[in-house]
Amino acid sequence: MKCFPVIIDCDPGVDDAAALLLAKQMPELDIRAVTTVAGNVGVDQTTVNALRIRAASGAAYPIFAGADKPLFRERIDASAFHGEDGLGGVAYPVPKEEIPAEKAWDAIYRIAKECNGELVLIAIGPLTNIGIALAKYKELPQLVKKAVIMGGAAVGGNVTPCAEFNIYADPHAADMLFCSGIPVYMCGLDVTMKAFVTPEELDEIGALGSSQAKLFREVFQMGQKKYLEWGMKGVALHDPLALYYAVDDSIFETHHVGIRVETKGALTLGKTVTDLYSDKQMEHNAYIVMDVNREVFLQKVMELMKKYD
Ligand code: BDR
Ligand code: CA
Repeated sequence: MKCFPVIIDCDPGVDDAAALLLAKQMPELDIRAVTTVAGNVGVDQTTVNALRIRAASGAAYPIFAGADKPLFRERIDASAFHGEDGLGGVAYPVPKEEIPAEKAWDAIYRIAKECNGELVLIAIGPLTNIGIALAKYKELPQLVKKAVIMGGAAVGGNVTPCAEFNIYADPHAADMLFCSGIPVYMCGLDVTMKAFVTPEELDEIGALGSSQAKLFREVFQMGQKKYLEWGMKGVALHDPLALYYAVDDSIFETHHVGIRVETKGALTLGKTVTDLYSDKQMEHNAYIVMDVNREVFLQKVMELMKKYD
């Protein structure tokens, strides 16, 4: 089993929290840092939540706080789905810990240099920290092996008819990443909506016995209601899917394509424009993940959560 260095850039967020719980149990991941960004809720709260999940999982990685707003637009949030606290209102203590003064983008660059080209960025929130790192450190693309992101969609959107939340929240930063030369693997709504967990399956995870498994179930309770109201079979595991893709792409369908982000359109702001369905007219700068074997993915989630005592 090959272990590789990663930074998880996130905005916890209920599905970010689930991803962080799973990440702790993946021996393939050498988690050099978790960096936080404004997204589902403000950055102070996403940082507090990263601390809460680190404590819950028993992990020891450093956490660096990042951007409190997008590069060029007003901040939006997703507290209607994730709750005011970003974790669905779970009663989980806030550790009294300081975070380092180093900012997320400086930590990303420093760690990338330390990893000699092996660093994988797993970005499951708006891409502002990465945008700032790219603007500040011109050699960063040569230092990063690849970026696996949760964001975008070839078709449709969840915050507007054609934009997904993470990309819509900071379309300029997202486009900077796609134009950077770093190979980007995009796990968007096309695939993450297929990776849902039904209420029964979620209960099964919660019943595993550990406090972490209970927490995994608990954070999704509020969001689950909304998914069921929308007529879905269960809540989508957006961020866990992207995280899992980084360690094992064998259960996914991936295509080498061109992807850019619409940064101007009034109706189309934040759309990830891809030539997947057209006549391959773009430079092939990225990979789009379109399908997953849901059963195997859920089995892996279950196996990882069983590792908690
Ligand atoms: C993405 O947006 C956020 O609300 C989730 O945490 C996930 O990263 C899904 O569109
Ligand atoms: Ca997220």
